[in-house]
Amino acid sequence: MSVFALCFQFIETMTSSLQQIMASTGNGLDYDKEQELKTFDDTKAGVKGLVDSGIQSVPKFFVASSEETCNEKSDLRHTHFNVPIIDLRDIDKVGARCEIVKEIGIASSTWGFFQVVNHDIPQDIADEVIESIQRFNEQPNHVKEKFYSRDKMKKVRFNSNFDLYKARFANWRDTLSCLMAPNPPPPEEYPEACREILLKFSKYVTKLGQDLFKLLSEALGLNSNHLTNMGCADGHVFYCHYYPACPEPNLTLGHTKHRDPDFLTILLQNQIGGLQVLHDNHWVNIPPVEGALVVNVGELLQVISNDKFKAAEHQVLANCAGPRLSVACFFTTHFEPSEKLFSPIEELLSDDSPPLYRGTTVKAYIDFFASAGLPAYSSLTRLRL
Ligand code: OGA
Ligand code: NI
Repeated sequence: MSVFALCFQFIETMTSSLQQIMASTGNGLDYDKEQELKTFDDTKAGVKGLVDSGIQSVPKFFVASSEETCNEKSDLRHTHFNVPIIDLRDIDKVGARCEIVKEIGIASSTWGFFQVVNHDIPQDIADEVIESIQRFNEQPNHVKEKFYSRDKMKKVRFNSNFDLYKARFANWRDTLSCLMAPNPPPPEEYPEACREILLKFSKYVTKLGQDLFKLLSEALGLNSNHLTNMGCADGHVFYCHYYPACPEPNLTLGHTKHRDPDFLTILLQNQIGGLQVLHDNHWVNIPPVEGALVVNVGELLQVISNDKFKAAEHQVLANCAGPRLSVACFFTTHFEPSEKLFSPIEELLSDDSPPLYRGTTVKAYIDFFASAGLPAYSSLTRLRL
């Protein structure tokens, strides 16, 4: 079949699916959410497919309760709240390193989030990563849909809303996830649009992750290699998000509030903005900063640090501008069938600081996280002693 015929067939299918989905934005009668979700999922075209079809309103299954979107905790008067920006330039100079370790320790225990600059990942690599994810999402659907799947075992997978059928409302977002280490798939299994650059970026991010785990170990008063020796840097997965422009951004979210179920996340974002962290009961913007990467503590690091470091709740607002693009690198090994238990680090325990969590395998942790839709009952609470 020619590309034109394929495109035509796609537009026809999308139009009829869209008519069904549009009908659901009406009066709410005859609304069968399950069926609407399935119709949307079957297009394999994600939120971007809806937008391309000219949708002018947000289908009902994306609509969140006003509590979940009104962002009432945002208070612009609190401009003194700024997520720390940490300069890694002199990481190898003894005096400066001491200062960096101190800053990272404070940021990880109070915010759970910080941004890093002068981190050794070249700007052109970061730019190319973002461009390649845009390219992947903006190619014809017949190329992209080959990757569309909800099979959790797939090392490369594209879909819209990993929790589509469980979440209270769907998010205005499509995601390509790629396992990069350990045991990556053969390179040809990654989409051609981003294959080479993701493999290159993965090498840089591995090094930055190792450096950050060293700094975090030192901030906990441990030997530099403690967290890497535990296996925190042994694996990583890229979640490449595409947040299309949204016609009614106040009705939904790009990403429901959550904590990350990994050890650490390094996030690259383009210039649109919308990421927020809950700090001191206020939603605080994490603005795009030229050359910076966002770093945040995951729940598993909160467990092993016995609450010395905090995994903070964060969310992404929907936006009438777009697309917003981000690549979240999750340091985790949940694809591995390991029985290794992660529990609070012995050296951090004392009579005054007893263990707060029971141990968990990485896989059991993520399985519990994935079994609920967002916003989830915290998996941390379940492990609490
Ligand atoms: C995530 C996440 C935020 C973003 O992938 O867990 O929080 O800015 N992403 O895309
Ligand atoms: Ni997250």
